[in-house]
Amino acid sequence: MVKIENIKKRFSGRDVLDGADMLVRKGEAVALIGPSGSGKTTLIRAINGFVVPDSGKVIVGDKEINYKNKESLRQTRKKIGMIYQLFNLVERASALENVMAGALGRLDNGVNLISSTIGLFHKKERDNAMELLKFVGIEDKAFERVDRLSGGQKQRVAVARALMQDPELLLADEPIANLDPKTSRKILDLLLRINMEKGITMICVLHHLDTVTDNFNRVVALKNGSICFDGETHNLTHNHIHDIYEFEEENVEETRCLAA
Ligand SMILES: Nc1ncnc2c1ncn2[C@@H]1O[C@H](COP(=O)(O)OP(=O)(O)OP(=O)(O)O)[C@@H](O)[C@H]1O
Ligand SMILES: [Mg+2]
Repeated sequence: MVKIENIKKRFSGRDVLDGADMLVRKGEAVALIGPSGSGKTTLIRAINGFVVPDSGKVIVGDKEINYKNKESLRQTRKKIGMIYQLFNLVERASALENVMAGALGRLDNGVNLISSTIGLFHKKERDNAMELLKFVGIEDKAFERVDRLSGGQKQRVAVARALMQDPELLLADEPIANLDPKTSRKILDLLLRINMEKGITMICVLHHLDTVTDNFNRVVALKNGSICFDGETHNLTHNHIHDIYEFEEENVEETRCLAA
């Protein structure tokens, strides 16, 4: 469960999050949409504790995040698997090493450098990582360096790394934005399958509206840091979409000029 209550964040004198509220139940999959700059990534980062809100509450599982307490942040991050647009892997390490790194948050020895910990991993962790690479469909690339993999293969490694944490929650920030349509489809199917089969709650930032309406039951839309739609995708009308993505006046002018 993720509960966000009246969360506010100002950056450079601008309200980037302006009183957003949201409740995501255990096992739910939610698409988060909104124009560029509307605060989607900031909201995701507030949930994983990398952005400290000016006010408001974030509850993950049954615990409110205490942003001032490092241990509280660590406990929260342990529960959350992250998937990014640009994969955020260690390019020079192998797929298997990257996946095993996902276990670091679960280990209590406080060590967090791959190079110094790789020898400390138990066989169990290694077997688990291999299983996950199999689950995401690239066990044959386990020993390949990540910089030799395609975008789709990298994202599969990132998904396996997130699963290695045994997360309660998956936060995916534009996980398919850098992939071709066919690969995007496969990665999205993988994420949806994880949500369905493993019951892992998922919040997924997406830009392509058809992808959202075709695959998600619930959509939350941010605009200027506030939630302007939260409901079933089939209730998202053209009016809502126009309202969410409306052009700024100068853009309307620009569009008119281009059309002329
Ligand atoms: N660390 C920061 N310092 C200053 N401003 C920031 C910071 N992080 C985000 N912002 C600003 O907050 C606003 C919202 O950014 P955010 O990245 O959350 O938008 P977004 O909805 O994810 O956009 P996009 O769809 O382009 O990824 C932007 O104007 C951005 O410049
Ligand atoms: Mg973003």
